[in-house]
This record gives sequence, C-alpha cells and structure tokens, in this order.
Amino acid sequence: MAYVALYRRFRPKTFEEIVGQEYITTTLKNQIKNDRVAHAYLFSGGRGSGKTSTAKILARAVNCLNPKNGEPCNECEICKQALENGLIDITEIDAASNNGVDNIRDIREEVEFIPTNAKYRVYIIDEVHMLSTGAFNALLKTLEEPPKHVIFILATTEPQKLPVTILSRCQRFDFKRISVDNIIKRLKIICNESNIDIEDGALKIIAKMSDGAMRDAISILERCVSVGEDKILEDRVREIVGIPEFDYLMEIATHLLLNDRVEVLKDAEKIINEGKNLEIFVWEVVKFMRDLVMLQVSDDLVAYKEDDLVRMKDLARTLNKDVILNMITDLSELQNSMKWATDKEVIFETGLIRISMRGTKKESEEKPETTNILKQKEAEDSLKSRVLSALKENKRMIMHAILLNSEIKQVDDELIHIIFSQSLDDVNKQYMQKDESKGIIKEVVRNVMDKDIKIKYVFNN
Ligand SMILES: Nc1ncnc2c1ncn2[C@@H]1O[C@H](COP(=O)(O)OP(=O)(O)OP(=O)(O)O)[C@@H](O)[C@H]1O
Ligand SMILES: [Mg+2]
Ligand SMILES: [Zn+2]
Repeated sequence: MAYVALYRRFRPKTFEEIVGQEYITTTLKNQIKNDRVAHAYLFSGGRGSGKTSTAKILARAVNCLNPKNGEPCNECEICKQALENGLIDITEIDAASNNGVDNIRDIREEVEFIPTNAKYRVYIIDEVHMLSTGAFNALLKTLEEPPKHVIFILATTEPQKLPVTILSRCQRFDFKRISVDNIIKRLKIICNESNIDIEDGALKIIAKMSDGAMRDAISILERCVSVGEDKILEDRVREIVGIPEFDYLMEIATHLLLNDRVEVLKDAEKIINEGKNLEIFVWEVVKFMRDLVMLQVSDDLVAYKEDDLVRMKDLARTLNKDVILNMITDLSELQNSMKWATDKEVIFETGLIRISMRGTKKESEEKPETTNILKQKEAEDSLKSRVLSALKENKRMIMHAILLNSEIKQVDDELIHIIFSQSLDDVNKQYMQKDESKGIIKEVVRNVMDKDIKIKYVFNN
C-alpha cells in the first residue's frame, strides 16, 4: 500500500470527527437537516484547525443521497465519488496558485449550469485571501446573485485581508485553536487505529507543541513514529521536537532575569547557531520562568530532577515575583511576534536583548535617582565590580544577584564591609550567612585583592 501521511489518512470524514469546533459543526448539521443551507460560507481561523476538512464534509453533506442527522453517509454514489475527488460538481480551488481573474471568470460561467450529478455545485476556495483584486471583483458579482444550486465555501487564515464586500455576503464561522485536551483525544484515536504505542506524557508534549493546530500535532506524531522505535517515549519526543536541556534554560533564564545583556546576546547567538527551533525555545523559557514562580509558593509542583530543582529554588528565591511575571509577559509577546515573522532570527535576537534592557528600565523608572547613583558608584567601586564578575565567572549567580544590590566598602587594608540593601529578605540573608557562602565570598575577595582580608556583613535593617 502506498504510504499516506497520517494527517491525510485521518482527515475527518464526518462533522462528528471534527474536534473542538462543536458550535460550528452543530450549526451546519442543523442547517442541513432543516434544508436551510446558505449560499456562501466563510471559514476563518488558525492553520490546521479543520477549515478545509469541514468544507469537504459540508460539500458532501449537502449532496449526499442518504444523509443521516445532517451528516454525509460517505457510502452512497455521490459521497463515494466525492471522497475519491471524482465528483464533477465539487470543485476545490487553491487560491494561492489560482489567484487570477480568469480562474474566477471560469467559475462565473460555470455556475449558470445546473449541477451534473448532484443537487448543488459546491466551490471550495481555499486560501481565499490570496485572490487578486480583479478576481475578488469577479467573485463578488457571483456572490451577489448566486444561482440556487450553487454553494461557495471560502476558507482563509487571514480574514482581515478580505474586502468587506465579500465578508458581508458570507455566513462566517471562526475556527478556534484546538485545546490541548482535544488534541490529545484525537491523537489517541489515531494511535489506537494505527497501532502506535505511546506514553501519555509524550502525547501531552506533542499536543502542547502544536499550539492549537491539529495538523501540526499529527505531523509531530508522524515524525516520532518514523524514528521506528517500539514505543514512543516522552524523553524521545522532547529530543525530537528540540526541547532544550535544563542547563540551557537555567542559563538564559538567569541572564535574562539579571539583565545581563552581554550574556543574553551570547546565548541568543548560540541558540541560533545550533539551529534550534526559536519559537519552541522561547516557549520553553516562558514555561521555565513560570515554574520558577511556582517554586516560590510550592515545593514540589514541578517535575524536574532533584539537583536541577535545587538550582531552580536557589534562583527563584533571589527574585521578586513581579520581575519574573513581567518577564513572562514580555517573552510571550516575543513568541507571538515571531509566529508570523519571516526573519525569526532577527526578531528573536533583538527581542531578547530588548527584554533584558526593559528589565533594567523598569527598575530605574521606579527609583531613578537611587539607581543612577548606584550605577555611578558601581563604576567607581572597582572592587565591587571585580568581585561581581568573579562570582559570575564561577557561576555563582545567586550571590551575584544579591551583591548587585549591595555596597562593598573597603574600610581599611584588612577589612571589607558588605552592606546589604534594606530589601534583602530573610531567606537571602540566611543564605549569605551560611558558612559555605561566606567561604565563597572570602575566596573570591582573596583572588581579587591578592591577599586575605576580613569581611563583615552589615545589614541595614
Ligand atoms: N478540528 C479538527 N478535528 C480533527 N482533525 C483535524 C481538525 N483540524 C485539523 N485536523 C487534522 O489536520 C489536518 C488538516 O486539517 P485542515 O486541512 O482541515 O485544516 P485547515 O484549517 O484547513 O488548515 P489550513 O489553514 O492550514 O489550510 C486534517 O487532515 C486532520 O487530520
Ligand atoms: Mg485548509
Ligand atoms: Zn452519501
């Protein structure tokens, strides 16, 4: 048997099989039952949400010799011919490749004739927003006075590109993005019928990755199947779809949250060079940040390895929840703007840098003077900046974050004061007072100053 892509093999053949668009399919079934079909429909909505599939079902349902409860029987002569694309009265036009006025003029002449075999002549015009202006005008003439035996079904992902004159003549249905649960449901059916063994966790990842588009979900499933293993495991799916590893996420999240522009730029370049899927990457960072917020309120909400969890907790407790939440909003916006962009890399890189800068700006908007003074001090206070960069080099990000908001004062040759800001909370205070932390600071200062020096913490509250 010739190989047929899963998404084609599982193109829904009845309204019942279209998931997540119940409002639309119920309305259409009722119209058919009551013989009240419209003469022009517009199906709009995101890609892979069922527009073309529904149009094909509708085209059969209106012509079926033996419809059941508004559904096509898929067994009569008419249905069978339609399913084999051999029914002359159903015409599918891809406006992306047939966008000229001539194509539509042909239709205008044709519609005058009564259907050859079926009750209705049905024209499905896919990607209708791609029609040229001339073609739109020609179509409009036909839509103004469609013969009784003609039905137009226009489908598009970009209804805003259609002239209002066309919009106003169609009965419009907006297809929704399909929920994760509904995608999982459909994937389970497909896996069952195709004897595909798959973990629940794997299904969940696929459903989430596909962003409401069923076709994408099925394509990802297909990629996983083609690896040829007995059972599709969650970890394998992660690998296949390119979910980044923990260290990666930890690193970029830390750099973003600490507004470390230089490092963020390096991270962005690295990710681009490795050819990672950038949208997925941003989405993963968003999820990671969300988990950080969760960790501030709960201990065991997230499924990470024990060691990783400890590192996340360390990072989470140094940060203000609002800072993380703002970052999540910014990153979600970035992900959205990347979705339709042709040059994703540029948007990705500039977006990340802008976000890491905006973080700093938000702070300075709150207390412009103090921050400026601090900045100035920081520049002068080269002890401090050397300590900070040493901490960073050693990946002591939490201490780095805490010390960023503190003052380091050299009292004399033998004594240094680290003066912590008032906003330092108890958890961080305790963290800095741990012997291990003190040891690290001491070590770093020793390296910077090239000699042993006493360190005293000064807490301002
Ligand atoms: N709502 C749905 N229920 C079940 N399967 C669906 C649904 N939407 C899409 N699919 C699956 O995805 C495939 C593509 O769907 P379809 O062509 O109907 O999407 P579309 O909305 O026309 O997308 P596009 O805008 O990209 O043309 C179908 O063959 C089917 O396997
Ligand atoms: Mg389509
Ligand atoms: Zn039939």
